[in-house]
This record gives sequence, structure tokens and C-alpha cells, in this order.
Amino acid sequence: MKVLNKLRLGVNIDHIATLRNARGTAWPDPLRAALLAEAAGADGITAHLREDRRHIQDADMDALCAGIGLPLNFECAPTDQMAEMALRLKPHAVCLVPEKREERTTEGGLDVATDEMRLAHYIAPLSAAGCRVSLFIGHDENQIRAAARIGAAVVELHTGHYSDLHAEGSLAQVEAELDALRKGAALAQSLGLEVHAGHGLTFENVTPIAAIPEITELNVGHFLIGEAVFLGLGNAIEEMRRLMDMARA
Ligand code: PXP
Repeated sequence: MKVLNKLRLGVNIDHIATLRNARGTAWPDPLRAALLAEAAGADGITAHLREDRRHIQDADMDALCAGIGLPLNFECAPTDQMAEMALRLKPHAVCLVPEKREERTTEGGLDVATDEMRLAHYIAPLSAAGCRVSLFIGHDENQIRAAARIGAAVVELHTGHYSDLHAEGSLAQVEAELDALRKGAALAQSLGLEVHAGHGLTFENVTPIAAIPEITELNVGHFLIGEAVFLGLGNAIEEMRRLMDMARA
């Protein structure tokens, strides 16, 4: 299959740690999952170190940094503690997300437009240290323009609402959300931002997102780790890779 403009697949391994932490054992090991993901064709590994440490732990970040060959995308909230950690580890990328203690997962995008000055100061040392700073935002024009103004290298567009609509909404709602994501991706690229996307992506809903030409990377976690129970992690990643390639073929 000839694939034009190949899309990178970042595998989020947070929920390997969720499973491990459920028993307080040393297994399953997130580093082992990352190495397996690499062998199965992943292009990057994402790990989210949450303030409450509900899944990935500080020691996992150290182990991933030391142990993987793929680029590491360190996902975190824009706090002083995380900046310190990122500046010590110097991962390939730092993806900034909003965090609420009571949420089950990252519910919305970062409000860059409201927090512009603080975020501009926050990302400057990270970029200077060589990390590609990515901002996880909705497809809203104000947020995209603010991300470009403060000098982020990347925006990751939140596909959670699209995924929810795909599961439960009408066709018209799905199409409207896709259209907004397409417009957001085109605007972001026109402003010089690299465009990623993720959240809630599955075998069923990934194709229209993967077909958006401006998007260069998808980050997928929960579904792949769940599917690994049935297919094996390597097979689940290979199937996601195949669907992404088909969408670009
Ligand atoms: N991208 C970002 C910024 C995220 O916060 C998450 C969830 O941790 C994902 C992608 C992956 O989402 P999911 O686990 O639903 O595939």
C-alpha cells in the first residue's frame, strides 16, 4: 500500500500503569509495553504524569526516558513541579493538558487564550531546552491563534467530543464536529503549527480523523490497552496502524 503523507502513531501507555497500580505490584510494566509498542510499529510513546499520580509514577518517567528508543511525549499539567521534571528529563516533547482531580480523563482542552501570558512564560524554558511543546486544545479558532502567538511548536486537537458523538450522536452532529476539526487543523497548519490529534480514538472512529491531511500524529491510549486484552498489544497497535495507513492511501 502506497501511503501518502504518513501519519505517526503515538501510543499512550498510562493504563498499563493503571492495571499495575490496581494491585500494587511491579506488573504489567509500562516500559515493557513501550518496547512492545515500538516493535509493533508505534512512532512515539506518550505517558501522562498526573498530579495525583493515579497511573504513571515518577519512576516510570525515568525508566521510559532511559529505556525507550522512540521519542517520548511527556504529558502533564502546566505546573511548576512538572516544569522542573520536564527540564530534568528533557523528553522529545512536552504536551500540556488541563487537569482536574475529579475527572476520569482529560475532559477539555487547555484554555490558552485566557492564560496566554502565563503559558508563554511557562513554555519558553521548555522550548529552549529542546523539547517540542504541544498544547492540547479544542478546535476553537481563539485557542489555535493563541497557541501560535505564544510560540508552541505543536497543537494536539482534542477528539474526545468527536468520539462521543461517533458513539452516541447523529450523523449530522458527527459531520459538524469533523468539519470543525478539519477547519481547526487547516488553520493551525497555516499558522505554522504542527497538528496532532487524540482522545477517544478507536478502530471504529479513527478513519475520518486519520484522513485529515494536516494532522501528522495521532495519540491513542485507552482503547488500544483495552483491546490488548483480546488481541494482544502488538496486534492492536498493528491494526490501528493499518487503519491509519488506509485512511491515507
Ligand atoms: N492525547 C491527550 C493529550 C490525552 O490527554 C489523552 C488521554 O490521556 C490521549 C491523547 C489519549 O486518549 P485515549 O486514552 O482516549 O486514547
